[in-house]
Amino acid sequence: MKIKRYLYTIAMAGVAFGVASCGASGDHPGYEYAPQMYNSVAYEPLSQIKNEDEGSWLSSREDGKGEFFNSNPNNPHGMNMREPVENTVPRTRDGYLPYRLKAFELEKAAELKSPIEATDEVIAEGRVLYTQYCATCHGAGGEGDGKAGEVVGGVANLKGGAYIDLPEGHIFHVIMKGKGRMGAHGSQIPQERIWKIVHYVKQEIQKQ
Ligand code: HEC
Repeated sequence: MKIKRYLYTIAMAGVAFGVASCGASGDHPGYEYAPQMYNSVAYEPLSQIKNEDEGSWLSSREDGKGEFFNSNPNNPHGMNMREPVENTVPRTRDGYLPYRLKAFELEKAAELKSPIEATDEVIAEGRVLYTQYCATCHGAGGEGDGKAGEVVGGVANLKGGAYIDLPEGHIFHVIMKGKGRMGAHGSQIPQERIWKIVHYVKQEIQKQ
């Protein structure tokens, strides 16, 4: 009997302590269970913990600071990341500026010139990419007779009259943004690869 009451008392004390420790007030932020789950030991790009003692009770750092101190006092706004220089423009992974023309700006796009030369190697790569991305609808030879094209319907014959003279910028734009019944491919094919496809279409498909 005595043991039961003893255990009961301990259990109740545990509960009372547990409940009491849920509080946070004034300068006391409350206790955290497994704080490594909330505080990144690594530097976070957009935030930093500036208190040098934060997490010092479990710290094994050689510099003697708290485990969670991850501050870079030289940066503004409490960020660890440096802000890019003003007017910085992002580049795509292949080093190009982002393509900013809107789908309806086809005429403007028609004036664009390919930034890469139509070397044999580029055209060979273009052929592979064309086979991957375009032949399903436009057919291996570009005549609009691809298998998937039968389902889509109305696929352009790239060797047909009006299409032969399409400027390279126009074709680039159509691949990037889509046109009519053809969907946009800009999110799937990086710009440089699109230009390779354009060279292949102009140099091989349309000159045969
Ligand atoms: C899902 C089928 C499909 C795929 C894939 C596709 N196209 Fe098309 N494409 C079409 C259809 C349909 C049209 C006709 C669009 C219209 O005028 O409605 C078209 C039109 C075109 C035109 C003519 C644009 C114009 O000004 O009328 C070009 C050039 C072209 N495609 C090139 C490509 C190239 C290059 C690829 C590969 C990156 C490709 N297409 C992938 C279906 C496709």
